[in-house]
Amino acid sequence: MCGIVGYIGTKREAYPILIKGLKRLEYRGYDSSGVALINSDKSLSVYKAKGKVSELEAYCADKNIDGTVGIAHTRWATHGEPSSTNAHPHYSESKNLAIIHNGIIENYAEIKKNLIDKGLKFQSETDTEVLVQLIEYIQTKKDLDLLTAVQVALHQVIGAYAIAILDKRHPDTLIAARKQSPLVIGIGDGEFFVGSDASPIIEFTDQVVYLEDGNIAVMKLGEELKVVSILNEELSLNVKTVDMNLGEIEKGGYPHFMLKEIFEQPNCLINCMRGRINIDSDRVTLSAIIDNRDKLLLAKRIVIVACGTSWHAGLIGKQLLETFCRIPVEVEYASEFRYRNPVVTKDDVMIALSQSGETADTLAAIELAKENGAFIYGICNAIGSSIPRATHTGTYIHVGPEIGVASTKAFTGQVTVLTMLALTLADARGTIKHSDYVKVVKELTVIPEKIKEVLKVNEQVADLARTFTYAQNFLYLGRGYSFPVALEGALKLKEISYIHAEGYPAAEMKHGPIALIDSDMPVVVIATHNGMYEKVRSNIQEIKARNGRVIAIVSKGDTSIAKIADSVIELPDTLECLEPLLATIPLQLLAYHVAVCKGKDVDQPRNLAKSVTVE
Ligand code: M6R
Repeated sequence: MCGIVGYIGTKREAYPILIKGLKRLEYRGYDSSGVALINSDKSLSVYKAKGKVSELEAYCADKNIDGTVGIAHTRWATHGEPSSTNAHPHYSESKNLAIIHNGIIENYAEIKKNLIDKGLKFQSETDTEVLVQLIEYIQTKKDLDLLTAVQVALHQVIGAYAIAILDKRHPDTLIAARKQSPLVIGIGDGEFFVGSDASPIIEFTDQVVYLEDGNIAVMKLGEELKVVSILNEELSLNVKTVDMNLGEIEKGGYPHFMLKEIFEQPNCLINCMRGRINIDSDRVTLSAIIDNRDKLLLAKRIVIVACGTSWHAGLIGKQLLETFCRIPVEVEYASEFRYRNPVVTKDDVMIALSQSGETADTLAAIELAKENGAFIYGICNAIGSSIPRATHTGTYIHVGPEIGVASTKAFTGQVTVLTMLALTLADARGTIKHSDYVKVVKELTVIPEKIKEVLKVNEQVADLARTFTYAQNFLYLGRGYSFPVALEGALKLKEISYIHAEGYPAAEMKHGPIALIDSDMPVVVIATHNGMYEKVRSNIQEIKARNGRVIAIVSKGDTSIAKIADSVIELPDTLECLEPLLATIPLQLLAYHVAVCKGKDVDQPRNLAKSVTVE
């Protein structure tokens, strides 16, 4: 949520680095953006524009953009509507300071009132301007240096933040701080970079420090990076080498990141299984399980917490874990779990699923479960993000950076890890027959090839999408393992095409949603050859009897459903438990092509942001 980028050096101009960085971070928020530069004449210029980063660039075309020190921000509005006034950076009253901020200052109203009572004036409706005004007020009143003023101000603040702040009277210093909102510092040769993730930094350096909660980074030209606490204790630097290349965060010839990421899935899953599945011995090994065997094997219950698409992956995980391991599993929306005083004990294992590893609700659910003694297992994509650091152990899905706001490859990566986890635990608990274990492992290893085959339906789905662009509503139906796939298909469509869509267990249709069906209603039904085939086929007949338009996802060679459905999309055969990995692909493509046909902004749909770091 919101993107932060900063640069301080002497050899390079800051503006091009900041603009490029903002474009890389635009997926985090894109309703307005802005940049603050310490110009070569020592002035502090702030330029802001509503809309995308390209609007900011156009606005800056005739402005003074020179200087080798600056900060920039792309916003996803929390306090105050999207506008150039509310966009960051924000000046302090004297215009000596400029700040950018991700997160929410919860007690901003109270602080603002105090400052107004002291005579300060505010330009924007944001909590961020309150913070910079508070810092300046403390700095001036107590005659403090910027670092100390930041430390004192952060003591008074309740909430979450990642900030970067400049003081034009000290153009050789950039200060950044974090609490519950990610911040990465890049260390170059006599220069420093700041990012809300590593993507704006990796072009320049692979040496980074991920700030921990309560850390403040002081980047001063001519000196080493210094990290201190709010209480000014100097902290040791944990410099890491980032393993991300530029190709991974560029479109590589595809018109959108989402399409690129859909097509990457075969390779992503190969990477996800690499080193974990041994094809020669048909064995799955997850190091997280070896290291924490007792905790995991003795679990009386597993609670999966997640949001959005990750929650859908969790529903599939529940079926896998219960089927193979015979452990009761609950799947919870993290946002609900954290606030409903749940029963959690030391006998529970919590699995936290998150692509970004930064989702605020999921992090809060983890903290709550930890306080109650549960053992926490994270399944995340973003390396070094907050959730993997907050959990006791975990498994990265290793599908590479996901930039499109609509999650695609992370979903299949999560389901793949959950399958490997269920197999490993079941094997260790003795709840799966060896022959079944081997069958699933063998089939899992050929899933990437089968996804490649499924991707060949792309053109067919694109044609289909043109037919259905008129629709105001869509229904998605599935049973068993396919029910969460139906939910996921509906979520994909609504978030990028803005068409209302609902996912339902197919058998539930007659308990209500069937009333919606008429000749305008497209119904996507996952009707592959599995234990529920005949029952789902009957559901399709019920829809057709009411003139609904059925798009059926069927197993290759199915002629029976082809006779009654309006369109069929064929999938290669696989085991029922692995069907979500195939059936989700045409649904991702359908959502993508409908959104393209409707002229929507596929990668940056309205009102959304990639990583939801506020609750
Ligand atoms: O990063 P996370 O997996 O924790 O994110 C959870 C949801 O915000 C995310 O899946 C969201 O629903 C996506 N936009 C879905 O495409």
